Amino acid sequence: MELLTLRKKVKSDNNTSSVMTTTNEIETTVEKKETSRVRMEARNLTIKYGTNVAVRNLSMPIYNEKVTALVGPSGCGKTTFLRSLNRMHDLTKSASITGEVLLDGNDIYDPKVNPVTIRRKIGMVFQKPTPFPTMSIYDNVVAGLKLVGIRDRKLLNEVCEIALTQAALFDEVKDRLNAPGGSLSGGQQQRLSIARALAIKPEVILMDEPTSSLDPKSTMKIEDLIVELKKKYSIVIVTHNLAQAARISDYSAFMYLGDLVEYGKTKKIFQNPEDKRTEEYLTGKFG
Ligand SMILES: Nc1ncnc2c1ncn2[C@@H]1O[C@H](COP(=O)(O)OP(=O)(O)OP(=O)(O)O)[C@@H](O)[C@H]1O
Ligand SMILES: [Mg+2]
Repeated sequence: MELLTLRKKVKSDNNTSSVMTTTNEIETTVEKKETSRVRMEARNLTIKYGTNVAVRNLSMPIYNEKVTALVGPSGCGKTTFLRSLNRMHDLTKSASITGEVLLDGNDIYDPKVNPVTIRRKIGMVFQKPTPFPTMSIYDNVVAGLKLVGIRDRKLLNEVCEIALTQAALFDEVKDRLNAPGGSLSGGQQQRLSIARALAIKPEVILMDEPTSSLDPKSTMKIEDLIVELKKKYSIVIVTHNLAQAARISDYSAFMYLGDLVEYGKTKKIFQNPEDKRTEEYLTGKFG
């Protein structure tokens, strides 16, 4: 509404090209603002295994259509936090969680919420590729859909092709969709795992060190893919590769011993961190 009024005003004021440029700029700014909405949010999140605190009172937003990187030394709680974002800890007996995790403003831990629905909306890609090795490439991709009872061949074929294309794997496997998932290379298996995550049409994708077992070429493919995917999805990625975080993320969170030490725009965190621990970690002094 505001934009429309503004545009009409600018147009009626003057019709020169410089004014039109200004209008376009205004439009771009407004669009940018709209896409930077908060998709998920952790509020005062504390996660324990038994009595050991793995994540302490963590609060941060996750923006829509952005990549958020979680970095920090081994054991600082990155995976623990990531898993809390789609209720994966429900499956770990010793884990307990206090605080809130909001998806579009609603707490995913609300007792009324079905965890299966949450895991369909928030997909996960693990550190190690996780294909079912004896299952065909095709069935690996559509496994999640079959699980919820979708049997329509035409639909499954369509989704399979789209997901494999999105995961930048289709061209490499289109002639052998019936070959077992285990016959693919490590990098291809990881892209297959991503295709499987995409096939269920999630809204948020969580990735735990998705390239740590891959060669530079496969890593590049996955990085390109993440940059492409963020046009539609919100992505949270855990990585030990700081250059990767700097390359592909818009926001970064530095965690240390269970605490969120610093969170902000990646550029700011990497170029001008507020906290001494962030600076020391990012410059390789520890971790
Ligand atoms: N299932 C579990 N049961 C008990 N303790 C756990 C469990 N998973 C993780 N922890 C502990 O919680 C803490 C945080 O672990 P987490 O896996 O989240 O770290 P991380 O930052 O992902 O580390 P890495 O970079 O090595 O993957 C560690 O002290 C770890 O030993
Ligand atoms: Mg981890």
